Amino acid sequence: MNLFSAIFLVLLIPSSLAQLSQTETRILFQVQKLLEYPQVLQGWNNWTNFCFLPPSPSLKIVCSNGRVTELTVIGNRTSPSSHSSEPFQALSGTFSTDSFFTVLTKLSSLKVLSLVSLGLWGTIPEKINRFSSLEILNISSNFISGEIPDSISSMRNLKSVVFADNLLSGNIPDLTSLSSLEEVNFDGNKLGPEFPSIGNNIVKIILRKNSIRSQIPLDLSNFEKLQILDVSLNNLIGRIPNSIFSLPSLHYLNLSSNKFSGNLSMNSPCSSSSSLNYVDISHNFLVGKLPSCMVKSKAKMLYSWNCFSKKSLKDEQHSLSYCKRDAALAVKPPNRKVEKGSSMKLGLVLVIVGGVVGIACVLALIIVFILWKSKPERLNHNMGGSVAHKFSEKSNMNARHVPQTMRLGTHGQPPYNIFTEEEIEDATNNFDQSNLIGEGSQGQIYKGWLRNGSVVLINCIKIKQKGLPHSIMQQLDVLQNLRHRHMVSVLGHCLITHQDPPQVTCTVFIVHEYISNVSLRDQLTDGKKKDMLKWPQRMAISIGIARGVQFLHTGVAPGVFGNNLKIENILLDDSLNAKVSGYRIPLPSKSTVNEESDAEKEDIYQLGVILLEVITGRQITSSSEVEQLKDELERSSSEPPSSILRSTIDPSLRGSYAYESMNTAVQITINCLSKISSKRPSIEDVLWNLQYSMQVQESWTSSGNLSTKF
Ligand SMILES: *[C@@H]1O[C@H](CO)[C@@H](O)[C@H](O)[C@H]1NC(C)=O
Ligand SMILES: *[C@@H]1O[C@H](CO)[C@@H](O)[C@H](O)[C@H]1NC(C)=O
Ligand SMILES: *[C@@H]1O[C@H](CO)[C@@H](O)[C@H](O)[C@H]1NC(C)=O
Ligand SMILES: *[C@@H]1O[C@H](CO)[C@@H](O)[C@H](O)[C@H]1NC(C)=O
Ligand SMILES: *[C@@H]1O[C@H](CO)[C@@H](O)[C@H](O)[C@H]1NC(C)=O
Repeated sequence: MNLFSAIFLVLLIPSSLAQLSQTETRILFQVQKLLEYPQVLQGWNNWTNFCFLPPSPSLKIVCSNGRVTELTVIGNRTSPSSHSSEPFQALSGTFSTDSFFTVLTKLSSLKVLSLVSLGLWGTIPEKINRFSSLEILNISSNFISGEIPDSISSMRNLKSVVFADNLLSGNIPDLTSLSSLEEVNFDGNKLGPEFPSIGNNIVKIILRKNSIRSQIPLDLSNFEKLQILDVSLNNLIGRIPNSIFSLPSLHYLNLSSNKFSGNLSMNSPCSSSSSLNYVDISHNFLVGKLPSCMVKSKAKMLYSWNCFSKKSLKDEQHSLSYCKRDAALAVKPPNRKVEKGSSMKLGLVLVIVGGVVGIACVLALIIVFILWKSKPERLNHNMGGSVAHKFSEKSNMNARHVPQTMRLGTHGQPPYNIFTEEEIEDATNNFDQSNLIGEGSQGQIYKGWLRNGSVVLINCIKIKQKGLPHSIMQQLDVLQNLRHRHMVSVLGHCLITHQDPPQVTCTVFIVHEYISNVSLRDQLTDGKKKDMLKWPQRMAISIGIARGVQFLHTGVAPGVFGNNLKIENILLDDSLNAKVSGYRIPLPSKSTVNEESDAEKEDIYQLGVILLEVITGRQITSSSEVEQLKDELERSSSEPPSSILRSTIDPSLRGSYAYESMNTAVQITINCLSKISSKRPSIEDVLWNLQYSMQVQESWTSSGNLSTKF
């Protein structure tokens, strides 16, 4: 009888208490689809009883009266801070936060929503406030960018807002109207520059690692329930308010790695009523005597790398002058307008150094300046492409100061931008080592995230020059032309000049687009991916590379030669479109450049090596291998068709090429690899031959010769 009732109960509970409504079931399936079937949701099917899923750390659904009240999904996609070598793992380009949240907000009883490490990208839509009963919103470790919408301040039931480890920027909306709010965690974004306004019931504030550049507001002293305050790793300035140490509930206070200055009041940090267990004020510009109770205190007190007077301190401190100088630098208005400064400053240097030339330039500058002033309305030159739209407000504002020709993108390329030093620092997280991805022949290369969430590569080039800086200005003009369909384009630059008379040193940060897909080398050596590269695809890629090189040689004046072309630097985008990267940036950096004609023929040779690898499918690592493969090709192509040639070319191309097409490509490759540089063809020659080869191939394919589908 006991057994019978037990069975009866088991049958009864699911159906009466927790059968999810049809509508909400459908919404969950939609969520599964919109999240592109992540691993953790893969088990869902028509027989899944959502309200009775087995407990799991990465998936939790709680139902009440046939409705979902909690949805927690934790995926395994990397996030902006994970810095893994894996490519950017956001959801695909078709994902839209707008439609995703529109679907989710139909779960009208939702109280807890956690969507972590799922690769969500885009901005938080204004309609987020349709979640009228939501109490906990956790979207940490995604690629959410843009500003937090103001509408969040109408979500009265919110207790916890966790947006950690995303790409959010701009000021945090006023949260004082959220009277239930207990926790905000915005760790690891780019929010700022203002310190946010938050209601007095708050218990935990985490703003670690953002771009806040203001002072700590005085009314912080009203936070009677505040237990945890972490604002480390920002650029907060001014004095540390004394009242902060006497907040009645505070037990963890982390102000480290900011730009706080001035002295601490002697007794405040250690009042007897204080509940503080952890205080970290290290890495600031604090001076004076360290309150003695802080040295003695049992609580964990960290205060190293300030400029406290050294007597009896164990921890290391900077010299007083360090804090005085840097604190002075730190107290600047949060919204710096460096932009105009950089070119204007350079203009000024020019006057001093350049005499007559200088005067002419000043006149020009004045005229340009007047033109800026007389154009108050915002010009909007977003060129169709989506990347253009992703550029932040700020960059557009800066673009206003750039002559119009610079702003207009060429060939559907995103508009050219002049970035501020601040934007570059933010993008690379202050040149964090973990973002350093390489040391090119022209300086370090960092991976960076712009405020709008787009990924870029930033190349830092240091220029030292004794003479006039005007040549640098001219050369910077060339940069904006380095934009082509078959090149990893330059999206903009940032110029910083340091005057160190008689020398002028400049650092130029060159911002390149980031192509997340693989290199041609990866594609050719990866067993599976290689199958996608039949002969026509390889020809199209080779033509793309040649077009990119042709553009470098002849599309800009003066031409850019000596480009160190390598197959690893040929990147393929999603549609297997070839893009040349790592080419020479035409600035007078430390590295020396060969004679121009040599450099031109050197490029042709290197292009030959790439073509050789494309044809043979073999990974070439030494010049002796080049010679050997070239000899093999040379011998075989002088023989009648097939057998020998076939043994040298990539076996996975079998059946996909016309003999004449292949032979043309082989011939031009051999010519490119000629030992005598004057015998190597021009880039136009190479391009012509490759295009001819492609035509032959196309007519062969269209006459039905092809056995392989692609
Ligand atoms: C679920 O059922 C619908 C219609 O009843 C059907 O179209 C769909 O293929 C089913 N899905 C699975 C995963 O079984
Ligand atoms: C997530 O985990 C699954 C299974 O453990 C794995 O197959 C998949 O590659 C992982 N995805 C990422 C982005 O790491
Ligand atoms: C949000 O998600 C993160 C990652 O899973 C977790 O560590 C944190 O506790 C969550 N916070 C809340 C309030 O749910
Ligand atoms: C304070 O924050 C910094 C940076 O986020 C961290 O390294 C440090 O461990 C924190 N201090 C304490 C006492 O937790
Ligand atoms: C802190 O600085 C203020 C003014 O800068 C000064 O009046 C005060 O005596 C200093 N206090 C300590 C403890 O050094």
